[in-house]
Amino acid sequence: VQHLLGIKYINEKDIQLIFETADHFKEVINRSIKKVPSLRDITIANIFFENSTRTRLSFELAEKRLSADVINFSAGQSSVKKGETLIDTVNNILSMKVDMVVMRHPNPGAGIFLSKHVKAAIVNAGDGAHEHPTQALLDSFSIREKLGDVAGKKIVIVGDILHSRVALSNIFALRLQGAQVKVCGPKTLIPKHIESLGVEVETNLRKALNWCDVANMLRIQNERLDISYFPTTREYTQQFGVNKAFLDSLDKEIVIMHPGPINRGVEITSDVADSKQSIILNQVENGVAIRMAVIYLLASKIK
Ligand code: CP
Repeated sequence: VQHLLGIKYINEKDIQLIFETADHFKEVINRSIKKVPSLRDITIANIFFENSTRTRLSFELAEKRLSADVINFSAGQSSVKKGETLIDTVNNILSMKVDMVVMRHPNPGAGIFLSKHVKAAIVNAGDGAHEHPTQALLDSFSIREKLGDVAGKKIVIVGDILHSRVALSNIFALRLQGAQVKVCGPKTLIPKHIESLGVEVETNLRKALNWCDVANMLRIQNERLDISYFPTTREYTQQFGVNKAFLDSLDKEIVIMHPGPINRGVEITSDVADSKQSIILNQVENGVAIRMAVIYLLASKIK
């Protein structure tokens, strides 16, 4: 694998290799070894055309922990604002002898497009409503850490499935590893024919959560949402939001996940986000080890 453009383009063996490599890096981090010299001769550009907190910071930290040289680019403060194209932007960055590009972009397929036009390893850090592969990897890694394995586990992805790159990448990753997957949300926010990806649709939240081991609670993507998709945020919360009383009333104790950023009080309340059943901050912690593993493995193809 030369790039990480989506989970769709990798296989189960690749995922296990990434996890084993991430296990190693997590163990190194837990021994308080903040930096390893693995990528001293590699330069990485993080180019972000969309806002990010977790992904941008954890990629940068992962790169620095591997001793790579790092440059950061935010479109909002760049010559993109003067009309420079994506390819010109990236080729200018690459002429500074950059080996790898980590890119977030609002257009689905932007990473695939770039990989065909520039000579560098490309890592997709989220492309529109298409894929967010490192998020899905860190999500599965966190399930494996919490429950011992992903195979055979029952996962529900709740919320705005239609606009969610996290949902699509998670579906691919979870199915590759042999998990059972359901999606749950308003009909208007569930893509037609999603069953063809090997998932079931459940529109009743209580039924979905009583079935699952893990609920991945997604944010409503207001920035991608046409207001006609679903009446109001309040109605969404009434039908698909989880509060502590609801969580406690379920048949069993389930694991709560969320990719962030959370709209507290919309998809989950604070006492759910911060409860013992939540592994949300473990997901963020694991993001660094997973991104170290992805970058390390891709860089080994460059050297
Ligand atoms: N989960 C995630 O992608 O968060 P950010 O948008 O803050 O990077």
